[in-house]
Amino acid sequence: MLRLEPNAATLGATIHGLDLRQPLGDAAFRAVLHALGQYAVLRLPNQQLHPRQLAAFSRRFGHIQTSVSGRYHHAEAPEVGILSNIVENGVNIGIPDAGQDWHTDMSYTATRGFINVLHAIQVPTRNGRPLGDTRFADMRAAYATLPEDWKQRIEPLTATHDFNVFWQNMAARPGSSRPPLTPAERAKRPPATHPLVLRHPISGTPVLYCNPGYAERIDGVSPAESADILGYLFAHQRQPRFQHAHHWQVGDVLLWDHLATLHTAVADYTAAEPRLMHRCQVMADQVFSPEFQRQWLDAA
Ligand code: SIN
Repeated sequence: MLRLEPNAATLGATIHGLDLRQPLGDAAFRAVLHALGQYAVLRLPNQQLHPRQLAAFSRRFGHIQTSVSGRYHHAEAPEVGILSNIVENGVNIGIPDAGQDWHTDMSYTATRGFINVLHAIQVPTRNGRPLGDTRFADMRAAYATLPEDWKQRIEPLTATHDFNVFWQNMAARPGSSRPPLTPAERAKRPPATHPLVLRHPISGTPVLYCNPGYAERIDGVSPAESADILGYLFAHQRQPRFQHAHHWQVGDVLLWDHLATLHTAVADYTAAEPRLMHRCQVMADQVFSPEFQRQWLDAA
């Protein structure tokens, strides 16, 4: 029996009573989708999953996107990416610095990212407290609290999002192992343009769809106006009042809605404190489609 326990924060809920080793029935899938539309970040605790089971669960929501480098995938389930600071035989077993600043995954592709599904395999702890939180900011609340004149100003606007913006920022950090992207890698991820205001495909709620990780410029305005708009929006959307920190526990599966949130991974642990996450990155190819909407959203 599925039970929802909302967080105190503006977003987030725990779902009890699901064992993701079993295929999700239609009623449970519909309930998870609606909870996602309402809470945007969902925790499913105590899951003991083979990566193939994580991929099978994630695939229900849409197509799974693999990494641009083609590296750090699970050998037995290539759709599952590995995020980790663990080094074996001198080699990182996963991406060591994934997502360590505010961003929205896959905003830089023509088909936006829909959800991230992370399974916590190893969580660093110090003095009994988990480290390596993932922090979220609620972009429904960010939109709702914009002054009316700003809502009107941004309604017709689009922004260009570029994968290279975040990559370069991370590569510039001291000790980064990220090489510059090759022309072939850049060609695989050309910039994409999206409206700043998105109607959420599950809830219909307006969302501020813009993020400091990838949004490079506002289209069709001068560089000065673009910088002015982005500067305002980036400061607005990162306010603490919109934020929620997820404190990981081993076995957590965390699903979060890229369309409704920003997130950042907190790098407050050392190389001697191992963190290992399995990740499936699900695209918004299905969720906007009329068939999906009819089957899973209208019929509820
Ligand atoms: C990510 O941005 O996908 C990584 C989040 C995390 O590892 O906490």
